[in-house]
Amino acid sequence: MMSHEKSQELFERALKFIPGGVNSPVRAFRAVGGTPFFARACRGACLEDVDGNVYVDYVCTWGPAILGHAPEEVKQALRETLEGGTSFGVPGPLEVEMATRICQAVPSVEKVRMCNSGTEATMSAIRLARGYTKRNRIIKFEGCYHGHVDALLVKAGSGALTLGCPDSAGIPEAVAADTICLPFNDGEAFSRVMTEMGESVACVILEPIPANAGLILPDPEFLALLRKLTQEYGAVLIFDEVMTGFRLAKGGAQEILGIRPDLSAFGKVIGGGLPVGAFGGRAEIMDVLAPLGPVYQAGTLSGNLWPWRRVARNWRCCSNKTGLSGWRKSGGSWRKCFVEHSRQVDGPGLLTGWVRCSVSILPGKRFGIWRMSKQQICPRSAVIFMQC
Ligand SMILES: Cc1ncc(COP(=O)(O)O)c(C=O)c1O
Repeated sequence: MMSHEKSQELFERALKFIPGGVNSPVRAFRAVGGTPFFARACRGACLEDVDGNVYVDYVCTWGPAILGHAPEEVKQALRETLEGGTSFGVPGPLEVEMATRICQAVPSVEKVRMCNSGTEATMSAIRLARGYTKRNRIIKFEGCYHGHVDALLVKAGSGALTLGCPDSAGIPEAVAADTICLPFNDGEAFSRVMTEMGESVACVILEPIPANAGLILPDPEFLALLRKLTQEYGAVLIFDEVMTGFRLAKGGAQEILGIRPDLSAFGKVIGGGLPVGAFGGRAEIMDVLAPLGPVYQAGTLSGNLWPWRRVARNWRCCSNKTGLSGWRKSGGSWRKCFVEHSRQVDGPGLLTGWVRCSVSILPGKRFGIWRMSKQQICPRSAVIFMQC
């Protein structure tokens, strides 16, 4: 019988001093019931809570822990970096190395700017697209989450042409008014909007393989249409690869899908569990950023050095032969096993681990059994930590 006494005590104390007891709402377990347990330590695939219960962690800190928790090689890299200080407020050679590596890994990225989170990356990419095109409207898609950016926290109206209304309190309607939210994979709706107002659209942003509303598999024709019409109307196509970048393939979902966006946003795996984000793309657009151009974007800790060595080790491990392609295979086996199991239980059916594993077999199987419908959204959401 599991005890959660200490977690319970901590949660009660946390509720007094932290809104909802958590520093990010999803950790409150509201969607799946129960109260959160508090982690004491994580190692490899396992997470131990403060009551001594050990779990297999399929959440992996919501994506970043692609090598598992606290891998020795990465810990060593962090120790080395800490010795030399963590943030200098002037440029350092590792920043240049990182930028070079990112541009080499993702061919659509000719220049890149580092920041501290996925939200910062998408927010900056949108400002840049608006500054570059000198237009205000943005198009996003239902089910795609891009962080807590004001203009992107918008849900769809009832019709394809409905302009956005804010999805969270605290966002002025004026901020959301220029956001158009369309159904994913609906080429007709997209064409209609572009025909009507394409010349005022600054950018189209999407998760190329949306994984924040379960898993929605992209119709290749839909993606090709996005690319074609954005080019025709001079709008910037932004792939939010915060979830997929450096995970599905070294070059992200765009490598697998064969589409070259104008800008891409990165987070999660790029920092391997440390606060790192990045956005990059065509040099002509990136050069509109300050200090070269008029679009301001900055950060006291942007490009700070301490995550870099960790990132570099992370990437080295991902690139070796047991890296991404090896994990794709084991992800496939794990998924089969989970499907068998979930047929027998009347329980939650989807988790971040599931998303990771199911999309990770894409290259070989071209969506395989997951392609039940164009708009497939997997069943119920759950956070799954299995007790060992
Ligand atoms: C696709 C996508 N974009 C952006 C974000 C925001 O990233 P962050 O939480 O690092 O701000 C997330 C986070 O879950 C995400 O999944």
